[in-house]
Amino acid sequence: MGERRPLIAGNWKMHGLRQEGLALAAAVAGKADAYQSARGPLHLDLLVCPPATLLREVSKTLAGSIVSMGGQDCHALENGAHTGDVSASMLKDAGCSHVIVGHSERRTDHRETDDKVKAKAAAAHACDLTAIICVGETREERDRGEAMAIVGSQLVGSLPDGATAENTVIAYEPVWAIGTGLVATVEDVAEAHAEVRVGLTKISSDSDAMRILYGGSVKPGNAAGLMELEDVDGGLVGGASLEVDDFWAIAETCL
Ligand code: PGA
Repeated sequence: MGERRPLIAGNWKMHGLRQEGLALAAAVAGKADAYQSARGPLHLDLLVCPPATLLREVSKTLAGSIVSMGGQDCHALENGAHTGDVSASMLKDAGCSHVIVGHSERRTDHRETDDKVKAKAAAAHACDLTAIICVGETREERDRGEAMAIVGSQLVGSLPDGATAENTVIAYEPVWAIGTGLVATVEDVAEAHAEVRVGLTKISSDSDAMRILYGGSVKPGNAAGLMELEDVDGGLVGGASLEVDDFWAIAETCL
């Protein structure tokens, strides 16, 4: 962890009906409030990314809390005939401050290309949302020794002009580590994050300040070793973000 303020983001994915989602949001806010009452300001940003159906109500639940809310995806256009999609301005309107774009599940399930991810991130910026832009290699790409080249090219292809540390966060998520319980080794993560940092120097004047999250089977048991790495500025947490105690235990490793 360098000088950058850590960010722990929970990606709930397609989990959560109203009752459990609101209870989870309230529990995360409760943990943050309890910490602050006992120990003072939390030197950490916390974010939850619920499914679109819960955004407005989660936003009310989080009112007055330091926990922010993000969408899991947005369309590149502001409105139009795009059945099932949600625009960045709609996310903003529902109370989001962030949006995840280019998650590997979107890149795979919806065939999203770097160009599309870039357009989505630009749409997020235009609505004053921070874009969490995901990059990461597949197992086959890693086995072929192409991991760093793939990550570098996704980065160049997916970052829009005008990406700053304020409006952009990078998430390095090796596809083979997502939801599998297989976490990359600290050496692999350190190498990838250093590579992302160098890649950023070529495309953004803000490369030193931009946060780079690690994602892929982050759990309370492995978080401390990952979060202490120089270029790891927090985590994008899937499965473990659905259990408040696990999510909080991961957050605490950054404090
Ligand atoms: P996981 O998901 O923590 O369940 O591996 C991470 C992500 O996809 O963002």
